[in-house]
Amino acid sequence: MERKIITTADGSKTIQLVDLDEQYHSLHGALQESEYVFIKQGLQHVIQDKHNQTNSISILEIGFGTGLNAMTTLAKTKNCQTPISYVGVEAYPISAEEVLELNYNNLFLDANINELYKDIHSCSWEKPVKITPYFTLEKQQKSFNEIADKNVYNLIYFDAFGPRIQPELWIESVFKTMFDSLKEDGVLVTYSAKGSVRRAMQSVGFLVEKLPGPPGKREMLRALRGS
Ligand SMILES: C[S@@+](CC[C@H](N)C(=O)[O-])C[C@H]1O[C@@H](n2cnc3c(N)ncnc32)[C@H](O)[C@@H]1O
Repeated sequence: MERKIITTADGSKTIQLVDLDEQYHSLHGALQESEYVFIKQGLQHVIQDKHNQTNSISILEIGFGTGLNAMTTLAKTKNCQTPISYVGVEAYPISAEEVLELNYNNLFLDANINELYKDIHSCSWEKPVKITPYFTLEKQQKSFNEIADKNVYNLIYFDAFGPRIQPELWIESVFKTMFDSLKEDGVLVTYSAKGSVRRAMQSVGFLVEKLPGPPGKREMLRALRGS
């Protein structure tokens, strides 16, 4: 399948699957989407949630892909001394050439954060690696349907390809796996706001909020596991 690196409207790059007319991120801005959907409406919400009296934050990313969401998480938490454990599940890691061409070592004003881009891609898979004293990354190369964690995560970044491309990932059984993998009061965020997706989440017990979407998108979803 032909893959191309393209530049999105905010100047940040993403990968395009040419034949499917699908991108790893929003064409309106890859960085902007990550910072809004996953950081502002996900991570910031978990950090501020007073029910979440946690001394650490455990994050599962559905589709590690380019590592952009790991980078924005590192940038957001750089001055925070809460340990972050970040698990990125990915069946098809991007190539070394794509890592270079994406150029995410130039995304932020903070050179110390930019420096970490090479570390998150060069570190080993299948084991936790300390990227900073407070941020541990574990990249797991496997299919989403092999996830069997129970009661582990405070937050899920659900960043699979859209329902048009992978309808099999936006259904009840997958959201049940996500629900079970979250701790009480855990939160899942995703850029999709499709009615069938919201109903699939609700049918497995999630309390679902529709939120305003990132630029270029009307709405997104945040799903709470509740206690
Ligand atoms: C929308 S892209 C991910 C974007 C990623 N979060 C990022 O910031 O680059 C979806 C990702 O899911 C991966 N993927 C697709 N189907 C998968 C599956 N069944 N199991 C595991 N990974 C899968 C793709 O290879 C791709 O990296």
